[in-house]
Amino acid sequence: MSDRSPAVAAQPCAREVRSVVAIRMTVDGTQYDDDVEPRMLLVHYLRERLGKVGTVVGCDTSNCGACTVHLDGHSVKSCSVLAVQADGHEVTTVEGLAKDGALHPMQQAFHENHALQCGFCTPGMIMQAIDLLNENPNPDERAVREGLEGNLCRCTGYQNIVQAVLDAAGRMTGRAESDVEPTAEAVSPRHAAPVAGGAGG
Ligand code: FES
Ligand code: FES
Repeated sequence: MSDRSPAVAAQPCAREVRSVVAIRMTVDGTQYDDDVEPRMLLVHYLRERLGKVGTVVGCDTSNCGACTVHLDGHSVKSCSVLAVQADGHEVTTVEGLAKDGALHPMQQAFHENHALQCGFCTPGMIMQAIDLLNENPNPDERAVREGLEGNLCRCTGYQNIVQAVLDAAGRMTGRAESDVEPTAEAVSPRHAAPVAGGAGG
């Protein structure tokens, strides 16, 4: 008969104590007060607490950009930001772009340029593209491709996405999209960046 004692296995686990932190943030124009665990990611707060499921999770490595939102007007990957880090700040998701029933010019351009296939990357692409145009209202094709490098489209529909962003730039600055000078990358991409062409053309 074994002389091993079962006493060690019988030790009860210490009860997990979860602390919460009070946060306040404005999301898509509405102020929210909540208690969250310090480890809660912003994307999970948006989706699970606020129901903002237009912001999606496409990876677990902070690479895909599908979760991109604006934090105080600048794009961030909301899977790499803690909800507590957004305390006191303003968040805009893709659901907060349309005003009075009218799509944001970037949304309209994506629609008219068929810049989506499955649409999973689209919310993040749109949010990143708006930030890109805020920084550079008149980008050429190369600047658009470089500006979207952090956003991946698994359907590889990059060509139409780039066209949509150039179209939106024209709409938002009053230029015709045909006025945008094509770059060498339009014909021969400089490198194999995610936005350098694909099934879309
Ligand atoms: Fe955030 Fe992929 S879900 S980068
Ligand atoms: Fe499907 Fe981009 S349209 S992932």
